[in-house]
Order: sequence, then C-alpha cells, then structure tokens
Amino acid sequence: MNNISQNPQPVTKILIIGSGGREHAIGWKFSEDFKQKGQSVEIFFAPGNAGTAQVGTNVSLGSIEEMKNFAKENQIDLTFVGPEAELAEGIVDIFKAENLAVFGPHQAAAQLEASKAFAKDFMAKYGVKTAAYKNFQGSQLAKEYLQSQDFPIVVKASGLAAGKGVIICQNLEEAEQAIDEIMEDKTFGDAGNEVVIEEFLEGFEASILSFFNGKKIVPFISAKDHKKIGEGETGLNTGGMGVIAPNPLFTDEHFKMFEEQIMEPTKCGLIKEGLEFAGVIFFGLMITTKGVYLLEYNLRMGDPETQTTLPLLETDLYEAVIKSINGEEFDLTFKNQHACCVVMVSGGYPGNYEKGYEIRGLEKVTCPNFIAGAKLENDQVVTSGGRVINVVGLGDSLEDARAIAYENIKKINFDFEYYRTDIGVI
Ligand code: AMP
Ligand code: GLY
Repeated sequence: MNNISQNPQPVTKILIIGSGGREHAIGWKFSEDFKQKGQSVEIFFAPGNAGTAQVGTNVSLGSIEEMKNFAKENQIDLTFVGPEAELAEGIVDIFKAENLAVFGPHQAAAQLEASKAFAKDFMAKYGVKTAAYKNFQGSQLAKEYLQSQDFPIVVKASGLAAGKGVIICQNLEEAEQAIDEIMEDKTFGDAGNEVVIEEFLEGFEASILSFFNGKKIVPFISAKDHKKIGEGETGLNTGGMGVIAPNPLFTDEHFKMFEEQIMEPTKCGLIKEGLEFAGVIFFGLMITTKGVYLLEYNLRMGDPETQTTLPLLETDLYEAVIKSINGEEFDLTFKNQHACCVVMVSGGYPGNYEKGYEIRGLEKVTCPNFIAGAKLENDQVVTSGGRVINVVGLGDSLEDARAIAYENIKKINFDFEYYRTDIGVI
C-alpha cells in the first residue's frame, strides 16, 4: 500500500467522486472536521450537485481518465469514491497505478458488489453466514432446479441493477416468470446473464457500514433503512426513503453474532484471496430467529446510511481514511445519540418524476441537510433528481431525532414534494 505522509501541505485537497446526498454528506463531514482542527481543506466534487457547491467546487470530469489527470494536476491528497459504477470499472486500480491516494476497493474486490454470484460463492467458501443458494448461467437449468424447491424463494439478477434486480417469488409460476424476465427478456440488461436463486429469509433488516484497512474491519453503528415508497413499507422499492441510526432492533447480541459469523470470516476470506483493500464494506443483514444472515455486500457507502451515520461520527474522517490507506490502526467512535434521516423526493419517484422546481426555505433549516438531486439554475436551487434532499435530525433519543427531522422538513417546500411521515416508527 502507498505510504502517504499526513498533511504535507498547508491546504489538504480532497476529490469526491459522485453527485448525491451521500457525497454531500462526506464532503460536509470533511469540511466540519477541518474547521474544528483549524486547518485548511479544499474539496472538489466530480460532478457534485447544488449542495456540494456550498462545501467545495464542482468539477465536470467525464471519464476515469479525466478524474485521474485532474487528481495528478491538482495534487489531490485523497480521492474518495462514492458510487459503485466507477469502482466496478476499476477507478482504484487506475489511480493506484499513478501512486494517487484513493479510498475504495480495487476492481477485483468490487466484484463482491458487482456480482452477487461471486459474492455468494465467496461467502460459502469462507463460512460467512448467508441464505442457501445456487447460481445459474442458463434459464433451463435454473427452471429445473426450481421444481424441487420450497416457496417463497428469491431470484436475483447477479449483476448491478440499481437495487432492482431482486424478485421475491411466492410460487413456482412467479419464479419461472422471474427467470424469464431476468435471463430471456433481459429486463436488467447484462446484469441478468447469471442468476442467484436463494432461500427466502424472514426477519428484519439492518445495515452496517465499515472501513477496511486491508488487515482489520472497523464497523460503524448499525442503521435501519426504509426502502419502500409508501408509509408502512408499502409500494415500490426505492433507493431509500429514510434511515435511522442506531437501529433500535439490532441488539448487542446481534452485533456479536455479526462480528463472529460475518465480519471476521469476511476479513479472513479477503486476506486469503489476496483481495485486501482500503475502503468501505457495507453489510446488508437480515436478522431471523436463526440468527444474523448476510444478504449482500456493497463496497461503497450506503445512501442515505452515510447521511445518517456521518453526523454521529466523532472520529476525524480524513485521519481515519488516510490511516486505512496506509494500513495503520484506527478507531471509529460515534456520539451516544440518535439520528433520523428523512428523504424528500419529487412526485412520481421511483418512476418518472417531476423536476425543475425551486426549493424554498432551505435557509431556515437548523439541522444537517444534504442535497441529493438539485442543481443551481439562475441562482435558484431547483429539483433535478428523484430523491431531492435529506434532512437529518439528531437527538438524545430516537423520538427527539424524529421530531427535529420532521420539524425542519416542514420548512422546506417545492412543487410535487413527497416524504414518508413514518421514518423511525418502529
Ligand atoms: P439485495 O440487493 O440482495 O440486498 O436485496 C434487496 C432486498 O431484497 C433486501 O434488502 C431484502 O429486502 C430483499 N431480500 C434479498 N434477499 C433476500 C432473502 N434471501 N430473503 C428475503 N428477502 C431478501
Ligand atoms: N440504502 C441502500 C444502499 O445504499 O444501497
């Protein structure tokens, strides 16, 4: 790993890849930490959004090659990669070949997110607790296998499908239809060249982010995502309508099971396979009466898990990331508080949504808030994405955090706004 000396220059320069609320929150945390240290930082976002423009400078860099050249020419001290697409394309390998400090998995490890079939084989090989499964590259064998299975069952497109390639099937007919949609109709494109057929697990979900330094995995506090568009977890799946942290259902006992049966075997497997890296591992968990299971790995920060957990992180983010890149020991400590992040979206999301409407009242908001999909147009902040803004209440109890989030969200208005009113209701 590169040996990067800490802060050789008076101004630290950071490049953040991505354009969502996640990237705004990462930039905000760096900026707050540097303010607290009394040190200067210059943050660039590629491409960023109207919110990141308040924290640093948005730059338009079309390709990974351009990002690399920008980092070299501007003597960037650290590049933090937000989205999975660039990771799967190998941005980290390209940056490291030029001795640039970059936080994220190399392409080989990014396969743990980009290929569910690869991830499941890895979990099975290293004894990471997960649902029983089988991978298929052809629809005929997949359908034959279904004949002998119990239902419900889960059919997954193996590749990256923006969180949409998972179909829960109640009976044989639905499962055969799912195979046809994924493998024959190619609803998710090449992501459906291979499928994972998996045991259905019943329970509740939790997400745990972590940083890996190539030797040790250091976990964040747990979080709970609210994925459906409608109140009471109804309707279509979204990228995430809100998150609370810590997850009130995830006990210390669950945490211990996660560490022993998922986190440690993952670390050992990565090292044995020669897949060590400095970056994020995001564990998507299902907690059942039989224990804690790993549903999936993401090799990037979650959105909006990042917006929810970073405001609670006490540790200096830049120091933790640089230590991780250098393979050094570091801790992550969190405030003994609760966070509740509510996502305001634009009408129509997660389908085709409205855009181009002015967002009013942002100046009245008194808690952390992160722009997910808005741009500057003639000095106005206007909606430009499905998920528009994340409002994060912080409090000594979950109830306080919820109350603060909802009190502030009422101050923000734009045409066709929508948000769930039950984020954090357990
Ligand atoms: P994934 O992308 O694999 O995390 O799956 C997306 C969502 O599908 C998860 O957050 C769960 O809600 C659901 N899911 C995935 N795998 C299973 C499973 N084996 N049993 C039940 N639900 C699942
Ligand atoms: N909120 C889930 C994700 O980022 O994938």
